[in-house]
Amino acid sequence: MAAKNIVILGSTGSIGISTLKVIERYPARFRVFALSAYNNVQLLEKQIHTFRPRYAVVSDRGMEYFRGRSLNGTKLLHVDHDLEDIVARRSVSHVVIGMRGSAALGPFLSAVNNGKTVAPANKEALVIAGELIMRQARRHNAVIVPVDSEQSAIFQCLQGQNRPELKKIYLTASGGTLRTVARQRFDKLSVAEILNHPRWKMGKKITVDSATLMNKGFEIIEALRLFDLTVEQVEVVIHPEAIIHSMVEYVDGSIIAQLGVTDMRIPIQYALTYPQRLDAGLKPLNFARLKSLNFEKPDYRKFPALSLAVAVARQGGTLPSVLNAADEEAVEAFLNKQIKLTDIYRSVEKVVARHRVRAKPNLNQILEADVWAREETRKVISEL
Ligand SMILES: NC(=O)c1ccc[n+]([C@@H]2O[C@H](COP(=O)([O-])OP(=O)(O)OC[C@H]3O[C@@H](n4cnc5c(N)ncnc54)[C@H](OP(=O)(O)O)[C@@H]3O)[C@@H](O)[C@H]2O)c1
Repeated sequence: MAAKNIVILGSTGSIGISTLKVIERYPARFRVFALSAYNNVQLLEKQIHTFRPRYAVVSDRGMEYFRGRSLNGTKLLHVDHDLEDIVARRSVSHVVIGMRGSAALGPFLSAVNNGKTVAPANKEALVIAGELIMRQARRHNAVIVPVDSEQSAIFQCLQGQNRPELKKIYLTASGGTLRTVARQRFDKLSVAEILNHPRWKMGKKITVDSATLMNKGFEIIEALRLFDLTVEQVEVVIHPEAIIHSMVEYVDGSIIAQLGVTDMRIPIQYALTYPQRLDAGLKPLNFARLKSLNFEKPDYRKFPALSLAVAVARQGGTLPSVLNAADEEAVEAFLNKQIKLTDIYRSVEKVVARHRVRAKPNLNQILEADVWAREETRKVISEL
């Protein structure tokens, strides 16, 4: 069997690093065709020397850093104009989208337009342009095997079932850093405390979104697009142990769940080997030590971002693009200590309310809404 040629967008991030661990375990099955990174040039340099990709796609900083350095034959390309081309190359079979933000939309679309198997961890592209992505995927016979653990769980629970018999899905949420913290105390916690997620080790942006539950809101929209569901068919359940990664209920009342240890290598490897499964080399779940699994209803008053995302999902059009862009800007301002944690929701909600929604937008209108929302959020933040 020939090795699969893999492109990893965002190889220096949390998802990218886990993907390389999966690949390292099965060198005969996978070959790294290209890696892309942004600021972390030192780590990228190590990855280039270990995995010897044909291409490394870098920002201006990378271009400068690698000038005159030996790259063992790896060719340098630029993230601003080469990502769409590199994922479309004929020899590429799988594209892992581990870069964060809406910048992933261009390469995501290019990968589906060229019939690749796409493994998206990135949720922003699906939130803002999921309908377009799924339409193009169907048109070009591209396969999308989600990596985001909840979406991977749903995808796995759908295998071998009759789709019309699906009743609803349950998206589980560990509840993030603030589950047991009173809302009055939210702004007293430091950025470092917010970033200390109890279950998952992830990038900073998604960890903050997990604390505010905006991440779960994004996942609702992501699931609607990936699995063609209505808002009424999606229920969020708080499950602090994060052992059940999500569930699907069928019309006869049976519920199929996917369980596992909290390690992103499982959904990443599944996306790369689907429909096959391989030993991931991880410790199995120990039910005797677990003893119990707990469930709660989400507190919509304490975490208003969740209700906001549901309202945005109902309205659709350009609004998810606005929600995503406003949140990206506000979370960055929070991480830079310019605003308080509760100001994230305050600013995002204002920007969403001010937007004049376009129904059934094309790609340009989605991107225009993104630009508008970023400017508007910066304005709102400066007036806080
Ligand atoms: N981490 C998880 O467990 C997890 C789980 C589910 C879903 N996700 C989703 O997966 C995506 C990545 O998450 P993460 O936690 O891995 O994030 P992360 O650790 O912050 O990594 C982000 C990656 O994207 C690169 N990057 C940043 N800005 C870029 C840009 N403008 N253009 C190209 N590349 C850029 C970064 O490069 P540098 O580091 O070189 O700057 C890095 O490689 C997010 O959309 C997140 O919501 C993550």
